[in-house]
Amino acid sequence: MSDDVDTLRTECLAALAEAQDQRGWDAIRVAFLGKSGRLTGLLKQLGRMDAEERKTRGAQLNRLRDELTRAIEERGREIEAAALDARLIAERVDVTLPVVETPRGGIHPVSQAVEEITAIFGAMGFTVAEGPDIETDWHNFSALNTPEHHSARTDHDTFYLPSKEGEGARVLRTQTSGVQIRTMLGQEPPIRIIAPGRTYRADHDATHSPMFHQCEGLVVDRGITLGHLKGTLIEFLRVFFGKPELPVRFRASYFPFTEPSMEVDIGWSRKTGEIGGGDDWLEVLGSGMVHPRVLANCGLDPKEWQGFAFGMGIERLSMLKNGIPDLRSFYESDVRWLRHYGTDPLAPALLHEGV
Ligand code: DAH
Repeated sequence: MSDDVDTLRTECLAALAEAQDQRGWDAIRVAFLGKSGRLTGLLKQLGRMDAEERKTRGAQLNRLRDELTRAIEERGREIEAAALDARLIAERVDVTLPVVETPRGGIHPVSQAVEEITAIFGAMGFTVAEGPDIETDWHNFSALNTPEHHSARTDHDTFYLPSKEGEGARVLRTQTSGVQIRTMLGQEPPIRIIAPGRTYRADHDATHSPMFHQCEGLVVDRGITLGHLKGTLIEFLRVFFGKPELPVRFRASYFPFTEPSMEVDIGWSRKTGEIGGGDDWLEVLGSGMVHPRVLANCGLDPKEWQGFAFGMGIERLSMLKNGIPDLRSFYESDVRWLRHYGTDPLAPALLHEGV
């Protein structure tokens, strides 16, 4: 083999051995095999040779080209693998490092109660409906069978808003009951909804806040009876308070939008404050059979459709369940309070674990 071929091979292999990275390697590839590379230069000279010489020289150069191509490719793979190893080492994550404890927030008791209520009624086939906080007087009162001069309008200490030109009066909703109206107007029975949300009344003391939360419930179908109402609410209260034997009492009452109407009490011990204890009762929600006039206001024939409805104060339920003494503390945004009464954000209300 001629000297120049030997030199070329030696130089190329030496250069490859020294190449440390992709760029150096690429420069060698171009210098030897590229269009104006050294080996390419030698191959170009073949054209000027006579046939015999070209044959031996050609074979020699082709062998060299194959050999160098293989060597270059192999070194390329080595450099690539080394680069990957270096990256893996540089970017290594030490999974054995201890976790840095950062303070974790808590779910506010109101949100937690809404989640629990939703989980329980969800399991009974209810869906969640919503309505606006700024409600028309008609949805909040009139359609719910509360006439213009009825005392309920003043009982509620309503926040009235300036009415727009050509429109009826608007209020900050005093109850979530207006969502019943919106739902009946918006969808055909059968209906099974709960409507949690904010409500507003001009009232402020240890058990009243100008903004608080309620959850409404409505079922409309054929053949709905008081038995359905009682069964549903007893089941709900027993699961919510985690007491399968919780005593529940239905007491005749009055709401304009239900007939008959009932307040619902749960057993409570005045001595120990324990829920489910037996010497007294605590009122926890209002309920009743949907008044035929309310059904008619929403275009439903009361002879064909019956329903029951209920409404509860979310803070009140949360206070009873968690032993929170003062309603105002819900809105003071005191982190210590939240840390105490808040629940773990990574442990959502799931029925199968008991809410
Ligand atoms: N809206 C009532 C209130 O704010 C609660 C209520 C009572 C809702 C009876 C109902 C119901 O749907 O049937 O006091």
